[in-house]
Amino acid sequence: MPTIAIVGAGPGLGLSIARVFGAEGFEVALIARRESTLAEMVASLSAADITAAAYPADILDRPSLVRAFKDIAANHDPVEVLEFSPAPRGPQPGMVLAGPLEVSVANVQPHLDFYVHGAITATGQVLPDMIERGSGTLLFTTGPCSVSPTPAMGNVGIACAALRNWVLNLHDALADKGVYAAHVPLSFAPDDTDPATIAPHYWQIHERGEGPEHVLSPETLHTRRNPSSL
Ligand SMILES: NC(=O)c1ccc[n+]([C@@H]2O[C@H](COP(=O)([O-])OP(=O)(O)OC[C@H]3O[C@@H](n4cnc5c(N)ncnc54)[C@H](OP(=O)(O)O)[C@@H]3O)[C@@H](O)[C@H]2O)c1
Repeated sequence: MPTIAIVGAGPGLGLSIARVFGAEGFEVALIARRESTLAEMVASLSAADITAAAYPADILDRPSLVRAFKDIAANHDPVEVLEFSPAPRGPQPGMVLAGPLEVSVANVQPHLDFYVHGAITATGQVLPDMIERGSGTLLFTTGPCSVSPTPAMGNVGIACAALRNWVLNLHDALADKGVYAAHVPLSFAPDDTDPATIAPHYWQIHERGEGPEHVLSPETLHTRRNPSSL
Protein backbone atom coordinates (compact mmCIF):
# COMPACT_ATOMS: atom_id res chain seq x y z
CA MET A 1 0.00 0.00 0.00
CA PRO A 2 1.57 3.37 -0.95
CA THR A 3 2.09 5.90 1.80
CA ILE A 4 1.48 9.64 1.88
CA ALA A 5 3.40 11.60 4.48
CA ILE A 6 1.78 14.92 5.34
CA VAL A 7 4.12 17.36 7.06
CA GLY A 8 2.18 19.97 9.00
CA ALA A 9 -0.96 17.88 9.21
CA GLY A 10 -3.78 19.70 10.94
CA PRO A 11 -7.55 19.43 10.98
CA GLY A 12 -7.90 21.73 7.94
CA LEU A 13 -6.08 21.03 4.70
CA GLY A 14 -3.93 18.21 6.07
CA LEU A 15 -6.88 16.12 7.18
CA SER A 16 -8.74 16.77 3.93
CA ILE A 17 -5.74 15.66 1.87
CA ALA A 18 -5.43 12.59 4.10
CA ARG A 19 -9.07 11.70 3.42
CA VAL A 20 -8.68 12.06 -0.34
CA PHE A 21 -5.47 10.02 -0.62
CA GLY A 22 -6.73 7.50 1.94
CA ALA A 23 -9.85 6.95 -0.14
CA GLU A 24 -7.55 6.29 -3.10
CA GLY A 25 -5.82 3.49 -1.24
CA PHE A 26 -2.95 5.27 0.48
CA GLU A 27 -1.82 4.74 4.04
CA VAL A 28 -1.47 8.08 5.78
CA ALA A 29 1.39 9.25 7.99
CA LEU A 30 0.59 12.49 9.77
CA ILE A 31 3.32 14.78 11.09
CA ALA A 32 2.65 17.76 13.38
CA ARG A 33 3.43 18.76 16.95
CA ARG A 34 0.24 18.23 18.95
CA GLU A 35 -0.27 14.56 19.78
CA SER A 36 -3.88 15.08 20.88
CA THR A 37 -4.88 16.66 17.56
CA LEU A 38 -3.03 13.97 15.63
CA ALA A 39 -4.83 11.28 17.64
CA GLU A 40 -8.21 12.84 16.79
CA MET A 41 -7.26 12.92 13.13
CA VAL A 42 -6.16 9.27 13.17
CA ALA A 43 -9.45 8.31 14.82
CA SER A 44 -11.46 10.26 12.28
CA LEU A 45 -9.58 8.66 9.38
CA SER A 46 -9.87 5.19 10.93
CA ALA A 47 -13.64 5.70 11.15
CA ALA A 48 -13.56 6.16 7.38
CA ASP A 49 -11.58 2.89 6.99
CA ILE A 50 -8.37 4.75 6.20
CA THR A 51 -5.17 3.42 7.72
CA ALA A 52 -3.44 6.34 9.38
CA ALA A 53 -0.78 6.87 12.02
CA ALA A 54 0.57 9.86 13.91
CA TYR A 55 4.23 10.86 13.97
CA PRO A 56 4.61 13.83 16.33
CA ALA A 57 7.48 16.11 15.38
CA ASP A 58 8.37 19.78 15.23
CA ILE A 59 9.62 21.10 11.90
CA LEU A 60 11.77 23.58 13.81
CA ASP A 61 13.39 20.67 15.68
CA ARG A 62 14.98 18.95 12.70
CA PRO A 63 16.17 15.82 14.51
CA SER A 64 12.55 15.18 15.55
CA LEU A 65 11.44 15.51 11.92
CA VAL A 66 14.14 13.10 10.75
CA ARG A 67 13.12 10.67 13.50
CA ALA A 68 9.48 10.83 12.40
CA PHE A 69 10.47 9.80 8.89
CA LYS A 70 12.61 6.95 10.21
CA ASP A 71 9.57 5.70 12.14
CA ILE A 72 7.38 6.06 9.06
CA ALA A 73 9.90 4.03 7.03
CA ALA A 74 9.86 1.32 9.69
CA ASN A 75 6.06 1.11 9.89
CA HIS A 76 4.83 1.66 6.33
CA ASP A 77 5.55 0.90 2.72
CA PRO A 78 7.67 3.54 0.99
CA VAL A 79 6.45 7.11 0.96
CA GLU A 80 5.06 7.63 -2.54
CA VAL A 81 3.75 11.13 -1.84
CA LEU A 82 5.23 13.79 0.42
CA GLU A 83 2.94 16.74 1.03
CA PHE A 84 4.39 19.71 2.94
CA SER A 85 1.81 22.24 4.17
CA PRO A 86 2.51 23.38 7.71
CA ALA A 87 0.57 26.39 8.91
CA PRO A 88 2.27 28.33 11.71
CA ARG A 89 -0.95 29.28 13.43
CA GLY A 90 -0.08 28.10 16.90
CA PRO A 91 2.84 29.35 18.99
CA GLN A 92 6.09 29.34 17.03
CA PRO A 93 9.24 30.76 18.54
CA GLY A 94 10.10 34.08 16.91
CA MET A 95 7.69 33.69 14.00
CA VAL A 96 6.39 37.22 13.73
CA LEU A 97 5.21 39.07 10.65
CA ALA A 98 7.28 41.99 9.42
CA GLY A 99 6.76 44.49 6.62
CA PRO A 100 9.56 45.34 4.16
CA LEU A 101 10.96 48.15 6.33
CA GLU A 102 10.99 45.97 9.44
CA VAL A 103 12.65 42.93 7.86
CA SER A 104 15.71 41.78 9.79
CA VAL A 105 17.91 38.72 9.87
CA ALA A 106 16.30 37.87 13.20
CA ASN A 107 12.73 37.91 11.92
CA VAL A 108 13.44 36.17 8.61
CA GLN A 109 15.50 33.30 10.06
CA PRO A 110 12.61 31.46 11.81
CA HIS A 111 10.58 31.49 8.58
CA LEU A 112 13.56 30.16 6.63
CA ASP A 113 13.93 27.44 9.26
CA PHE A 114 10.25 26.62 9.04
CA TYR A 115 9.54 26.70 5.32
CA VAL A 116 12.86 26.20 3.57
CA HIS A 117 14.89 24.11 6.00
CA GLY A 118 11.78 22.18 7.02
CA ALA A 119 10.95 21.30 3.43
CA ILE A 120 14.57 20.44 2.59
CA THR A 121 14.80 18.21 5.66
CA ALA A 122 11.54 16.38 4.94
CA THR A 123 12.42 15.94 1.28
CA GLY A 124 15.84 14.60 2.15
CA GLN A 125 14.23 11.76 4.08
CA VAL A 126 12.26 10.44 1.09
CA LEU A 127 13.84 11.68 -2.13
CA PRO A 128 16.83 9.30 -2.38
CA ASP A 129 14.47 6.34 -2.14
CA MET A 130 12.05 7.89 -4.65
CA ILE A 131 14.89 8.41 -7.13
CA GLU A 132 16.05 4.84 -6.63
CA ARG A 133 12.50 3.54 -7.22
CA GLY A 134 11.94 5.97 -10.09
CA SER A 135 8.62 7.11 -8.67
CA GLY A 136 7.20 9.56 -6.18
CA THR A 137 5.50 12.92 -5.82
CA LEU A 138 6.60 15.91 -3.76
CA LEU A 139 4.00 18.65 -3.21
CA PHE A 140 4.81 21.86 -1.36
CA THR A 141 2.03 24.21 -0.27
CA THR A 142 2.47 27.90 0.47
CA GLY A 143 0.34 31.02 0.41
CA PRO A 144 0.15 33.79 -2.19
CA CYS A 145 3.16 35.69 -0.83
CA SER A 146 5.45 33.05 -2.38
CA VAL A 147 4.43 34.31 -5.82
CA SER A 148 3.25 37.91 -5.35
CA PRO A 149 5.02 40.32 -3.02
CA THR A 150 2.70 40.94 -0.06
CA PRO A 151 3.93 43.90 2.02
CA ALA A 152 2.45 42.73 5.32
CA MET A 153 4.37 39.47 4.94
CA GLY A 154 7.73 40.97 4.00
CA ASN A 155 9.73 38.43 5.98
CA VAL A 156 7.51 35.37 5.40
CA GLY A 157 7.49 36.11 1.68
CA ILE A 158 11.28 35.86 1.54
CA ALA A 159 11.10 32.31 2.91
CA CYS A 160 8.09 31.18 0.88
CA ALA A 161 9.53 32.62 -2.34
CA ALA A 162 12.79 30.79 -1.60
CA LEU A 163 10.90 27.55 -1.07
CA ARG A 164 9.04 28.09 -4.34
CA ASN A 165 12.29 28.80 -6.17
CA TRP A 166 13.82 25.54 -4.92
CA VAL A 167 10.72 23.50 -5.80
CA LEU A 168 10.59 24.88 -9.35
CA ASN A 169 14.24 23.92 -9.81
CA LEU A 170 13.58 20.56 -8.18
CA HIS A 171 10.76 19.91 -10.63
CA ASP A 172 13.13 20.37 -13.57
CA ALA A 173 16.00 18.43 -11.99
CA LEU A 174 13.73 15.44 -11.31
CA ALA A 175 12.01 15.45 -14.70
CA ASP A 176 13.99 12.49 -16.05
CA LYS A 177 14.02 10.55 -12.78
CA GLY A 178 10.36 9.54 -12.52
CA VAL A 179 9.83 11.81 -9.50
CA TYR A 180 7.42 14.72 -9.69
CA ALA A 181 7.79 17.90 -7.63
CA ALA A 182 5.36 20.81 -7.66
CA HIS A 183 4.60 23.99 -5.78
CA VAL A 184 0.97 24.63 -4.82
CA PRO A 185 0.34 28.24 -3.80
CA LEU A 186 -3.05 28.66 -2.18
CA SER A 187 -4.46 32.08 -2.91
CA PHE A 188 -7.28 32.68 -0.51
CA ALA A 189 -7.72 34.32 2.83
CA PRO A 190 -7.29 31.83 5.67
CA ASP A 191 -10.46 29.96 6.50
CA ASP A 192 -12.27 31.35 3.44
CA THR A 193 -12.42 28.06 1.64
CA ASP A 194 -13.46 24.63 2.79
CA PRO A 195 -10.33 22.48 2.62
CA ALA A 196 -12.50 19.58 1.48
CA THR A 197 -12.97 21.42 -1.80
CA ILE A 198 -9.23 22.02 -2.15
CA ALA A 199 -7.91 18.55 -1.34
CA PRO A 200 -9.24 16.70 -4.43
CA HIS A 201 -7.09 19.01 -6.54
CA TYR A 202 -4.01 17.64 -4.80
CA TRP A 203 -5.00 14.16 -5.92
CA GLN A 204 -5.40 15.35 -9.51
CA ILE A 205 -2.08 17.21 -9.39
CA HIS A 206 -0.40 14.02 -8.15
CA GLU A 207 -2.18 11.79 -10.67
CA ARG A 208 -1.34 13.98 -13.65
CA GLY A 209 2.19 14.75 -12.50
CA GLU A 210 2.53 17.69 -14.86
CA GLY A 211 3.73 21.22 -14.33
CA PRO A 212 5.97 22.79 -11.71
CA GLU A 213 3.28 24.96 -10.14
CA HIS A 214 -0.48 24.83 -9.58
CA VAL A 215 -2.05 28.00 -8.23
CA LEU A 216 -5.27 27.21 -6.39
CA SER A 217 -7.44 30.29 -5.97
CA PRO A 218 -11.18 30.89 -5.67
CA GLU A 219 -11.19 31.39 -9.44
CA THR A 220 -9.24 28.25 -10.30
CA LEU A 221 -11.19 26.19 -7.78
CA HIS A 222 -14.36 27.49 -9.41
CA THR A 223 -13.24 26.91 -12.98
CA ARG A 224 -11.80 23.56 -11.95
CA ARG A 225 -14.81 22.60 -9.90
CA ASN A 226 -14.62 19.18 -11.48
CA PRO A 227 -11.06 18.20 -10.53
CA SER A 228 -11.02 15.57 -13.25
CA SER A 229 -10.86 18.45 -15.74
CA LEU A 230 -7.66 19.79 -14.19
N1 LIG B 1 -6.52 27.57 5.04
C1 LIG B 1 -6.41 28.62 4.22
O1 LIG B 1 -7.35 29.29 3.81
C2 LIG B 1 -5.04 28.97 3.70
C3 LIG B 1 -4.81 30.20 3.05
C4 LIG B 1 -3.56 30.45 2.54
C5 LIG B 1 -2.61 29.49 2.67
N2 LIG B 1 -2.86 28.34 3.33
C6 LIG B 1 -1.83 27.36 3.44
O2 LIG B 1 -2.40 26.07 3.49
C7 LIG B 1 -1.59 25.25 4.27
C8 LIG B 1 -2.44 24.52 5.28
O3 LIG B 1 -3.26 25.38 6.06
P1 LIG B 1 -4.32 24.78 7.12
O4 LIG B 1 -4.37 25.66 8.31
O5 LIG B 1 -5.57 24.42 6.43
O6 LIG B 1 -3.55 23.44 7.49
P2 LIG B 1 -3.83 22.29 8.57
O7 LIG B 1 -3.43 21.04 7.88
O8 LIG B 1 -5.16 22.36 9.18
O9 LIG B 1 -2.81 22.66 9.73
C9 LIG B 1 -1.44 22.71 9.53
C10 LIG B 1 -0.76 22.19 10.76
O10 LIG B 1 0.62 22.53 10.69
C11 LIG B 1 1.10 22.18 11.95
N3 LIG B 1 2.33 22.86 12.31
C12 LIG B 1 2.47 24.17 12.62
N4 LIG B 1 3.72 24.39 13.03
C13 LIG B 1 4.37 23.20 12.99
C14 LIG B 1 5.68 22.79 13.33
N5 LIG B 1 6.58 23.65 13.80
N6 LIG B 1 6.01 21.50 13.15
C15 LIG B 1 5.11 20.60 12.71
N7 LIG B 1 3.85 20.92 12.38
C16 LIG B 1 3.49 22.22 12.52
C17 LIG B 1 0.00 22.57 12.97
O11 LIG B 1 -0.18 21.49 13.90
P3 LIG B 1 0.57 21.55 15.34
O12 LIG B 1 0.25 22.89 15.92
O13 LIG B 1 -0.03 20.38 16.07
O14 LIG B 1 2.02 21.36 15.07
C18 LIG B 1 -1.23 22.75 12.09
O15 LIG B 1 -2.35 22.09 12.60
C19 LIG B 1 -0.52 26.14 4.84
O16 LIG B 1 0.61 26.01 4.02
C20 LIG B 1 -1.09 27.49 4.74
O17 LIG B 1 -0.09 28.48 4.64
C21 LIG B 1 -4.06 28.06 3.85
